[in-house]
Amino acid sequence: MSGMRRAGILGDPVAQSRSPLIHGHWLDLHRVDGSYEKLPVTADAFQDYVRTLVDAGYAGANVTAPHKRAAFELADRLDPLAERLGAVNTLVFRDNEILGSNTDGFGFVENLRQQAGGWRHDMPVLVLGAGGAARAIIGALAECGVSEIRLANRTPGKADALAPVLEGTGTVLKEVAWVAREAACAEVGLLVNTTSLGMTGKPSLEMSLAHMGEGGVVADIVYAPLQTPLLVTARDRGLESVDGLGMLLHQAVPGFEAWFGCRPKVTQALRDLVVADLTG
Ligand code: ATR
Repeated sequence: MSGMRRAGILGDPVAQSRSPLIHGHWLDLHRVDGSYEKLPVTADAFQDYVRTLVDAGYAGANVTAPHKRAAFELADRLDPLAERLGAVNTLVFRDNEILGSNTDGFGFVENLRQQAGGWRHDMPVLVLGAGGAARAIIGALAECGVSEIRLANRTPGKADALAPVLEGTGTVLKEVAWVAREAACAEVGLLVNTTSLGMTGKPSLEMSLAHMGEGGVVADIVYAPLQTPLLVTARDRGLESVDGLGMLLHQAVPGFEAWFGCRPKVTQALRDLVVADLTG
């Protein structure tokens, strides 16, 4: 590919983002003539700023909080999952068009495949939380052919807002009371925490996994700390556990490929680099 390619991460704030580290590693590894920059921008300035990036010849950008909805509204074309989710985390500028996609759910599922290949798609999944991350994960699980998703959220009623994500997919969404989340683990093949509970500085997720059957997989999207109390409980019970870092690494793959022209791999070396930064 000729000429320097530029991309970056749009958000407010972006100082904490590990995306420059991830893409910087791949740029070096693949000897790409390119850059990946922190692109801080407020909600008010978002649309105009993206247009200036297009005009300046950027290849595209990742989008993080609070702009995922605004990016969805700005895109000229959307991939089917982004369309269903109403949120975009990856923008590609091509032929004077802004293409929007959502790779968060893809990242989650790819990581699950890599870290827990034996995950049983034919059993129900229990999802804790009903925010933006839950939306993306539920959408991707439906694409995997999961037939039943149980959703437990502290504030009741939020399953209704997520139901449209599953329309026409054949996946059934069943709301479970937050207090009933432990019993709801029965016959579940996969439990996913999408809440911020367990994150450094937040309360831990109070959750016994006694009802979870043998062969069950427990995934957390929290990656600071890497071993959340939930994942420690899972390991102690002999369940497979999947940490949240892999989702972050895998969601970055499609964007890098679209902007810089080669498909990067999520390797142990990349994981080690990001873990060192998180714990350093
Ligand atoms: P994200 O976009 O990362 O998913 P979010 O939209 O702020 O973030 O969602 C956070 C999720 O964590 C929500 O499901 C929230 O529950 P509520 O809908 O009841 O707010 C959940 N959450 C946050 N703090 C929580 C707590 N102390 N106990 C239980 N759930 C919590």
